[in-house]
Amino acid sequence: MYRVLYRKYRPRFFADVIGQPQVTDTLKNELKSNRLAHAYLFTGSRGTGKTTCSKILSKAVNCLNPVDGDPCGECEICKGIDEGTILDVVEIDAASNNGVDDIRTLREEAVFTPAVAKYRVYIIDEVHMLSIGAFNALLKTLEEPPAHVIFILATTEVHKLPATILSRCQRFDFHRIAPVDIAERLKSVCNSEGVEIDDNAALLLAGLADGAMRDALSLLDQCISRTEHITEEIVRQTAGLADKSHLFEITAAIRTKDSATAIEIIDRLYRDSKDMARLCDELTSHFRDLMLIKTVKQPRDLMVMSDEDYNKAYEQAMAMPFEEVVDAIGILQSSKEKMLRGANRRIEMEMTTVRLCTPMAKQSVSPEIESRVANIEKTVINLEARPTLSENKPKRLAPDSKANRPSDEKMERLRGKAVPMAEWPEVIEEMRKYSKTVAASFEGSTAYISEKYVLVDSANSICFDLLRNNEKLRSKMRDVIKSVTGMDYWLGRYSYPDEEQADDALSQLKNDLKSAGIPVDDNK
Ligand SMILES: Nc1ncnc2c1ncn2[C@@H]1O[C@H](COP(=O)(O)OP(=O)(O)O)[C@@H](O)[C@H]1O
Ligand SMILES: [Mg+2]
Ligand SMILES: [Zn+2]
Repeated sequence: MYRVLYRKYRPRFFADVIGQPQVTDTLKNELKSNRLAHAYLFTGSRGTGKTTCSKILSKAVNCLNPVDGDPCGECEICKGIDEGTILDVVEIDAASNNGVDDIRTLREEAVFTPAVAKYRVYIIDEVHMLSIGAFNALLKTLEEPPAHVIFILATTEVHKLPATILSRCQRFDFHRIAPVDIAERLKSVCNSEGVEIDDNAALLLAGLADGAMRDALSLLDQCISRTEHITEEIVRQTAGLADKSHLFEITAAIRTKDSATAIEIIDRLYRDSKDMARLCDELTSHFRDLMLIKTVKQPRDLMVMSDEDYNKAYEQAMAMPFEEVVDAIGILQSSKEKMLRGANRRIEMEMTTVRLCTPMAKQSVSPEIESRVANIEKTVINLEARPTLSENKPKRLAPDSKANRPSDEKMERLRGKAVPMAEWPEVIEEMRKYSKTVAASFEGSTAYISEKYVLVDSANSICFDLLRNNEKLRSKMRDVIKSVTGMDYWLGRYSYPDEEQADDALSQLKNDLKSAGIPVDDNK
């Protein structure tokens, strides 16, 4: 029977876990010196080893002959846990067992001493999915854990956990795995599978996986099902990688301020049914690559592209002033936002391109370009008669200045008490009946309850703009929340963007890089 690669190659020992020494070394030391915690929290993005390490840890604490902090893998306990026959180790998927009753059952059971192993181990995966009641029940156990019980909580979304739970756990952060490390692992897996893989192909695959080993192995699985010799071209085809030549062409036109050519390319792509929002994203990430090349000491490792494309990108990066690259990212991002708010995508893309071809915003614009922009704007009005462009233009949204916010202390206090609001998806569903657009702006958001507030958290600030500027909408939302929960709540925001960093693509990028441990050259 065929077993998918990522299952087949799940590490069985800490020593086989790649790229997470801050976790594996520390755990091994604790195990060797017998300093175990009662609750562990594993956080980090998907496919980085959280579930894998939970399983290894559950064996290591119970193994009859542990070796240097690692489980032996051979004794009856290790084997039993691997086969799932030892009932003292329990795996709970909080996504499907998130109710208060599930946790109560667990609590009642936890008081009994383990049947065969030394410790009862509860692995609660996706723990952020627990309901408020379930969190509270879990908290009671975490406050006075029986000596023979160990909890391992795993989540990709640690910010959704109540502070009360966090403070009771020893926390381990799993990092995205570096492309070179993933590539090494892919090569060794190919070796075991009797498949050949080119170095470039392994690197490309690794880059596409964006730090997640699981994704890298899944993609490798798909490549292997097509061929026994994996080349870069195969990876590209399998992943459906787009040809980047149009991005290079547009960038070249922007660099030489050739707006006519740039618009021609856009038109050609449009006629080929290219989605303009997608194009805008691709261009943003292309300019981001150029910025990386100009910023990072060893950019090659971070770039998901062939040598040929890399050399071209390098040339483009060197030929453009740094400010221009950074400005372009800002302009493209705001253009994407306008597209999401409903602007005509093609026209928005054309206007943006013209703007990008205009030498630095402050300098005077040539009459030719000015009239071009004016023409385009006219078309926008004729085509769409969008109220935002007519004379009753709404006031620019008031900036979300510090003066309008609750004090930092109050926010700290509220966040400290916040518990995830399980009914939030239902609230959004109800809002959909009122307005699809409003509901859409809340997609991907979460909410917490704290004191008499519902605190909304979203990476997409549009929903906050909508709420802030529309009293009717706010009261509608409060009504819906009341109808769902039976309670009166005020609406608030869970967190505010850091003012200094907002919109500063460069400092954001630098911070991302630094936190990923990549050296950044501040002087370039
Ligand atoms: N750090 C790692 N080292 C080696 N393989 C890994 C690592 N992280 C993930 N994998 C591979 O990916 C698969 C899924 O990993 P898993 O631990 O379930 O990820 P998570 O729980 O963090 O989403 C594993 O079976 C393994 O094949
Ligand atoms: Mg997992
Ligand atoms: Zn063992």
